Amino acid sequence: MPRSPKIRPPRLETIDLSAQLGPLRLANPVLVASGTFGALMDAVLDVDRLGGVVEKTVTMLPRKGNPHPRVWETAGGMLNSIGLDNHGLEGWIQKRYPRIRGYRCKLLISVSGRTTEEFAALVRRLDELPRVDAFELNISGPNVSRGMDFGVDPSKTEEVVRLCRAATQRPIFAKLTPNVADVAAVARAAMNGGADGVSLINTVRGMAVDWRRRAPCLGGVTGGLSGPAVKPIALRMVWEVARALPGTPIMGIGGIMNADDAMEFFVAGARAVQLGTANLVDAGSAIHILNALPEKLASIGATRLRDYVGTMEASDR
Ligand SMILES: Cc1cc2nc3c(=O)[nH]c(=O)nc-3n(C[C@H](O)[C@H](O)[C@H](O)COP(=O)(O)O)c2cc1C
Repeated sequence: MPRSPKIRPPRLETIDLSAQLGPLRLANPVLVASGTFGALMDAVLDVDRLGGVVEKTVTMLPRKGNPHPRVWETAGGMLNSIGLDNHGLEGWIQKRYPRIRGYRCKLLISVSGRTTEEFAALVRRLDELPRVDAFELNISGPNVSRGMDFGVDPSKTEEVVRLCRAATQRPIFAKLTPNVADVAAVARAAMNGGADGVSLINTVRGMAVDWRRRAPCLGGVTGGLSGPAVKPIALRMVWEVARALPGTPIMGIGGIMNADDAMEFFVAGARAVQLGTANLVDAGSAIHILNALPEKLASIGATRLRDYVGTMEASDR
């Protein structure tokens, strides 16, 4: 019997993990998601090795956030109702920017405004800083009143992106909420408004109940669900956007805890992934996943990650 020729796996160091998302080029596709990369994380994580860091959402004025408790563990995930606790725009520029401006990975700044004009004003001011690589518009925060207003309405999404587009030449990503019936319609609106790509998903609205006290467990009453529990929702939404809008640069987010999870997002259509809850479980998660990716690709004989993006075959029912 003739033997089938042996397929030699590619050498791990030759595997190309780089990702191109519109004008934004990442050395590799692993980023840390907004709000989950604490102020001191760079002390325990080699940030320079990451594809990028998405900063915690910055608002125009300082915010104290929601009442405690703000996080609650659930089966397969967690709820948070932080409520965009942050120093505000000028506080961020003074206190946080000096610490992160030296990172060698890409720096994506997340902003959230109460109005379209405020979104644009945030982008315009931050655009003056030399070390900003891209913006992520948080139009999907479920934990502040009216935080999702923009992201659940395609026409508002388009309008806010359009105004921000006029405020910067740098790449813009719209961060989408899963709390909609038709995520592709919102993604289309963001791209029509001039976004360079979309990030999805933000957290899924949920709540935890203490029946003995007959009270919600979270101080903010409802919260956003994240972690492994939301991964199937996130995968489905990434796939829906990739299918409806072929060629759209997508960053996949939601329940990614290991390199296999990340690979699932790539074949579903994401060019890069962001890790959220995983950072809170193990601050080294992003680096572990990055280290494991070449081996995953080699195991299928691949030499370039980008060749596998969006290659899942799924026929419609
Ligand atoms: C504690 C916590 C704080 C968060 N804060 C923000 C935030 O400020 N801005 C934002 O766009 N998303 C925020 N998120 C959402 C995450 O960036 C991410 O979209 C979501 O958690 C899903 O990913 P995961 O399942 O990997 O955590 C936060 C999530 C958590 C758990």
